[in-house]
Amino acid sequence: MKINSLGKIKAISGKTVFLRVDFNVPIKGGKIKDDHRIKAGLETINYLNKRGARLVIASHLGEPKGIDPSLSLKPVAARLKSLLKKPVKFLPEAIGLKTEEVIEAMADGDIVLLENLRFNDGEYQNDRKFAKALASAVDIYINDAFAVSHREQASVAAIKKYLPAYAGLLVEKEVIALNKVLKPNKPLVVIMGGAKIKTKAPLISKLYSPASHILVGGALANNFFKYQGLEIGKSASDTDCDQYIKKFFKRRKLSAKIILPTDVVVRTRDGRAKLKLPTAVKKSDTILDIGPATILAFSAYIKKAHTLVWNGPLGMFEEAAYKHGTLGVAYTMASIASGPAYGVVGGGETVQALSKTKMEDYVDWVSTAGGAMLTYLGGGRMPGLKKIVF
Ligand code: 3PG
Repeated sequence: MKINSLGKIKAISGKTVFLRVDFNVPIKGGKIKDDHRIKAGLETINYLNKRGARLVIASHLGEPKGIDPSLSLKPVAARLKSLLKKPVKFLPEAIGLKTEEVIEAMADGDIVLLENLRFNDGEYQNDRKFAKALASAVDIYINDAFAVSHREQASVAAIKKYLPAYAGLLVEKEVIALNKVLKPNKPLVVIMGGAKIKTKAPLISKLYSPASHILVGGALANNFFKYQGLEIGKSASDTDCDQYIKKFFKRRKLSAKIILPTDVVVRTRDGRAKLKLPTAVKKSDTILDIGPATILAFSAYIKKAHTLVWNGPLGMFEEAAYKHGTLGVAYTMASIASGPAYGVVGGGETVQALSKTKMEDYVDWVSTAGGAMLTYLGGGRMPGLKKIVF
């Protein structure tokens, strides 16, 4: 694998750089709730700033339809400024004459942050005109937004028609880490939870062969139970799940590699948390966690792994009664990843769950990506990596 990394840029000083980052962070009432994605972008920003680049930083935030003040990146500019301890000028329009004028007047070492790219429809449409406008006042394009690199959108795809393109340090690290999962030190154990089988089926399919075991929990497991004809009561599941599971098992049958929960914690009709066998779930029950026997069984597989990848919580960990499966697996995963195994965790909720253990630093790589990690590991298209990673 070859990466057009930052070291390949001949002279950075005095160049105007369009730096695409993923600062898609949760913001409520103008306050940033979690800034780990901003912090993850600092290394590249500092690298370029120290070398005298004129930095035009751009990101999306949420999925606005037109201009939506609640999804403005203005609070992000303020946080970035305080993290960098350097001035960051916020430009309220991503493209246009005013923006170009400011960019053209920038001095070496100056930093600006553009307003949410998705306020412009052209971003979603991967529109060439919009991409050209973004590229018009800059010399170089750098993608440091791995988490959105699965999208065919102007600032990660079309813009590369107009500028020499490089990978930021975060994108480089994400790719190297995920490649270690694709070419694993065996045994590889995959832990999959959350919901949306549609987004997870390609990954399960791709890693089915190299993996020794795929541990399935969360709402994802409900799809498998349903397919097996078990009652799942009021539990979450995908409406179109059968087509994926059927396609999946047509060739390979439900084999010993896929490990489903052997016990579950349900919320009963009267709101109590109750431990049950998957075969004993009633119509009025909601499955909200894996049970202790499953935690123990999953832990035994995890302990034998030399490579581990985890995406998706195994239960409703936000509620005290249903947090044990996810946190139990998080503790085991972090402990093993600190030692004999290479461990990768990704997905917003999964990372949130891991952070509750305060053991994030024991895991080899905590991805900033959710959907993009699933797409990359599942062998899907990554328009953001085109011309950057070969
Ligand atoms: C994410 O949060 O996964 C990325 O920022 C991509 O966001 P999107 O799913 O809205 O494209």
